Amino acid sequence: MHRFDTISALHQYLNSIRSQQTIGFVPTMGALHEGHITLIETARRENDVVVSSIFVNPTQFTNSDDLARYPRTLEEDCQKLEEAGCDVVFTPSVSEIYPEAPTLRLNFGELETMMEGAFRPGHFNGVGIVVAKLFNIVQADRAYFGQKDLQQVAVIRRLIRDLSFSVELIRCPTVRESDGLAMSSRNRNLTPTERGQAPALFRSLTLAHELISEGHSTSQAKAAITGFFSSNPYFRLEYVDVVNADTLQLANEVLAPGQTAICVAAHLGKVRLIDNLVF
Ligand code: PAJ
Repeated sequence: MHRFDTISALHQYLNSIRSQQTIGFVPTMGALHEGHITLIETARRENDVVVSSIFVNPTQFTNSDDLARYPRTLEEDCQKLEEAGCDVVFTPSVSEIYPEAPTLRLNFGELETMMEGAFRPGHFNGVGIVVAKLFNIVQADRAYFGQKDLQQVAVIRRLIRDLSFSVELIRCPTVRESDGLAMSSRNRNLTPTERGQAPALFRSLTLAHELISEGHSTSQAKAAITGFFSSNPYFRLEYVDVVNADTLQLANEVLAPGQTAICVAAHLGKVRLIDNLVF
């Protein structure tokens, strides 16, 4: 596996292979787990060359403690990437990506003000700027993102359309622990007791989905999730929404198969967890 930490070295290498080979790209912030590795494996199957990036992007953090606490495990990550068949890892410094603080502001309309946007103002501006930079730097044929961050996928879809990137966006299913908890770099900050409680988040989604399959309305399913957490002393529910899985517009009723998503966010101790179910 090649590792580059400057844009020019990465360019030189990728330009030498680009004309004959397809490039699949998996952007990450490191602290890699099976969820990330599954994206690498999918990219591996579908492309000649797999490029990943590890960059803890300061502009998408809305809380400086969260940025400082973000786990950094670079050497271990590089080893995992190599084992998963990644060909190139880009590990830039903050000054390589941001020689100066960007003044550009991206506005994703409603996507900015709902769900994650509402609770993390400015987050998607930071995600959009760094992903646009990485798309320009890597110029991949395909880019792989996890369904775990469904709103991020919707934001990137808009970014690709609005800025005419020619990359194909591939959404990959959420990888879970055996008890249903969606894998996340933040799970390692849970205490053992909280970790024991954490699968309740996914259980609440499956419960809501069962109600909908039995013919209950989406608002009844949302109310069931709110009720589920109101009697749970460990969780503080932030939001639950039923939306169009692609556009994230609120859905008052169930859409065509594969088009509806239930999305939740909740605090469990100091850790904020998100999850969703698409059906
Ligand atoms: P990060 O949180 O490291 O996630 C990198 C990619 O892995 C994202 O596409 C995310 O959705 C995906 N992912 C995380 N957990 C997953 C799981 N359990 N199953 C499947 N995929 C999973 O998302 C980011 O980084 C950043 O915002 C980034 C796009 C790199 C921009 O800085």
